[in-house]
Amino acid sequence: MHDQPRLKPLRRSDFFADGRASRPLVPGTVARGQLREDPYFYSGMVGKGQPGNTLPLPVTEKLLQRGRQRFEVYCTPCHSRVGDGNGMIVQRGYRHPPSFHTDELRSAPIGHFFDVITNGFGAMPDYAQQVAPEDRWAIAAYIRVLQFSQHAALADFPAEARAGLAQNANALRPPPPETTMGERPSAPGTAGDQQPHTRTQPRGGAKQ
Ligand code: HEC
Repeated sequence: MHDQPRLKPLRRSDFFADGRASRPLVPGTVARGQLREDPYFYSGMVGKGQPGNTLPLPVTEKLLQRGRQRFEVYCTPCHSRVGDGNGMIVQRGYRHPPSFHTDELRSAPIGHFFDVITNGFGAMPDYAQQVAPEDRWAIAAYIRVLQFSQHAALADFPAEARAGLAQNANALRPPPPETTMGERPSAPGTAGDQQPHTRTQPRGGAKQ
C-alpha cells in the first residue's frame, strides 16, 4: 500500500508559506452554536456597568423549577436554600454572603444577578464555566421567587387564597419538631407530643 501524502492537523508543513499545515481561521469565524447575537442575553448588561432589568426568557414554571434545581446545586453551599447566606460552607468558616432578602438586593435589577454569576463578585468566584447562560437566567429568576417568598404582602395573593391563608394561619408555621410520620400515639410518660395535631394543611405546603 502506498502512503498517501497528506497534512496532519496543527503540524508543520512546507506546502504553505507560513509553515503550518492548518490554515488560520478566516477573521470573524464563529464556532457553531456560539453566535452570541444578543449581547444582553450573555451579559445581563444594557450599558457599561449597567445591569438590565428584564428577563430575556419567558417566565414559565419549567424555567423556575430549573432555576431552583441549579440554585440548589451551585449556590446553596454558601447562600443556603432560602438565600439568607447561611450555607454549609459559611457555617464552616467561609465568608458570609449578604442575604438576598435585603432592600438593596430586592431592588437590584435582575441583570445584576446574571452578572454576579457570570463574573463573580468580590470574594465570590464566578460560575460561568459551570452554569450555562440560560441556566444563569433561570437561577436569577428563581432568586426573585425566593425574595418574593419572604416578602409577599397579603394583597399579593389571589382573593380565594387570601381567605384560606387567614383560616390556616397556623399552617404557615413550621410543623412542631416532635410530629411523627403517622398518627402514632406518644408513649406514655413522654412529654414530647404536647402540641395537639391541629394542622389544617398537609405538611410542607409553605416551606420545606
Ligand atoms: C463559595 C461560596 C459561594 C457560592 C457557591 C456562591 N456565592 Fe454568591 N456570594 C458569596 C460571597 C462570599 C458573596 C459576598 C462577596 C463579597 O461581598 O465580597 C456573594 C455575593 C453574592 C451576591 C450579592 C452581590 C451583591 O450585589 O451584593 C449574589 C447576588 C450572589 N452571590 C449570587 C450567587 C449565585 C446566584 C450563586 C450560584 C450560582 C452564588 N452566589 C454562589 C459566596 C458564594
